[in-house]
Amino acid sequence: MLGWLMTAPLAVLRWLISPVPLTVIVVLLAWAYYSFTKNFDFWKSRGVSGPKPCLPWGNEVGKMFSGFFEMDNWLYYEHGGKKFCGLFEMHHPVLFVGDLDLIRSITIKDFDHFVNQRDQFGAEFWKETLILLRDAKWKETRAVMSPTFSASKLKAMHQVTLDNAQNLAKYVEKQMAETGVVEVKDAFGRFTMDNIAACAFGVNCNSFTDPNSQFATNAAKIHSFHPLMIIRFLAETFLPYSIAKYCPDYSVKIGAFFGDVVMKTIAHREKNPSSTRDFLQLLMDTKDKDGKRILSDSSIVAQSSLFLIAGYDTTSTLLTFAAYCLAVDQEIQQRVQQEVDDAVERHGGLNYEAIMDMPYLDRVISETLRLYPPVARLERVCSKDYTLPGTDIHIPAGTLVFLSVFGVHRDAELYPDPLQFDPDRFLPEVKEKRHPCAYIPFGSGPRNCIAMRFALFEAKIALAAMMRQLTLKPTPQTPPHPMPLDDDGFLATPKGKKLPLLAVPRE
Ligand code: HEM
Repeated sequence: MLGWLMTAPLAVLRWLISPVPLTVIVVLLAWAYYSFTKNFDFWKSRGVSGPKPCLPWGNEVGKMFSGFFEMDNWLYYEHGGKKFCGLFEMHHPVLFVGDLDLIRSITIKDFDHFVNQRDQFGAEFWKETLILLRDAKWKETRAVMSPTFSASKLKAMHQVTLDNAQNLAKYVEKQMAETGVVEVKDAFGRFTMDNIAACAFGVNCNSFTDPNSQFATNAAKIHSFHPLMIIRFLAETFLPYSIAKYCPDYSVKIGAFFGDVVMKTIAHREKNPSSTRDFLQLLMDTKDKDGKRILSDSSIVAQSSLFLIAGYDTTSTLLTFAAYCLAVDQEIQQRVQQEVDDAVERHGGLNYEAIMDMPYLDRVISETLRLYPPVARLERVCSKDYTLPGTDIHIPAGTLVFLSVFGVHRDAELYPDPLQFDPDRFLPEVKEKRHPCAYIPFGSGPRNCIAMRFALFEAKIALAAMMRQLTLKPTPQTPPHPMPLDDDGFLATPKGKKLPLLAVPRE
């Protein structure tokens, strides 16, 4: 037995270097080399500058893995990305754009060439989500869903959001009393989880008292980047779908859990109609002229789950950075507290009208999103051959395009002293002088964030509820402005993925 174990590898090796297998190996390697490198002159031949690609990653592994934010700065300042430059994801060419007019052309003027996001998350379940729908199907679904996010619909979600915000303020106060410090990133995560569970699933999640509820546990799995999810993501990014689809899909089980939650609520509400006007109900109420529901059950499940994915981390990231900015600048914080107190007095409580009457808080939030945009870059896929305006550079259908939110938002030519936190950059008279694409935290054009109003509204209520009762202060370990960003993950995160602050009850 032992003898066989020793000789077998040698026998295989000997066979491999015999003429036929050796020829097959050489041909396969040559084919792989050709497939990976055949596009490497794609940008050079079009006269577009950019970093030199190398096997097998395309652009320097070091930069790819240093985090989106650092990589985008590198492309923006060192490779001509401030206007535009070309790079490679493996062997796929990608156009990186920082030029504001070109961003406007791609996202607005010539939108019909760039309707779609890249195709990802192979599971059939995700394919019906708005963000992955393509062309006419996307347009149709977006038109049906858009009224769900109108200002009048938001008003109906004010009370539930306020209840969750008050739970947040109580939780922060209690944490502070018990431990002498508050992990605000975690606290805001609980708030956005409860609020999206209530508004999109009709579920009472109670994250402040039960962080291990089934809902929170499954939601955490979506955002936790399980190794199988990363493998699937990489496979889908870098391999043809016909091969990638055989990778185990971790999201299927999680999708089934949320599908079950939504279907049970739909069934319950159909038997017992209620006056609740949350997103789930609004999606259920989309009817055609014959009174039939437009969105199928599976589409409603997909959209509710998408709201959880798209709305949970993004909004809690915004709140985390806003809390940091207020804590490290007490003068700005006092101004916000004063505005909240005045609005509450004027409108008789922290009601919808009071929240809509806080222009300074609005500017603080805008400036937070400028300096710390949760999403570093937007993506579009070119669906029809396109010539970059004012040039003779043609990009073929299928080319992926990155639009640099982070680069634009921290560009000193657009925002003098860009690392300074200054809410007055968003005074109406200052704002109107800027290019419309100089501020794009929610994207741009018809495919921008459908829930922008809701996200801002939710964030304002959370901050106002906290500012009514508490003053945030830095701990001795809190870094001064600007907060260094963590290297991994798709969204901006404070270095170390935590933000401990002090929260002192107001006198
Ligand atoms: C501060 C919070 C948020 C930020 C910064 C944000 C940012 C974005 C960005 C950058 C996009 C892509 C836009 C583009 O490519 O032009 C997007 C799309 C989207 N967001 Fe948000 N988002 C936030 C909150 C939310 C919330 C709370 C929800 C749901 C309740 C949501 C739902 C969506 C959906 C469904 C899309 C896809 C739209 C489409 O493809 O038509 N987002 N968001």
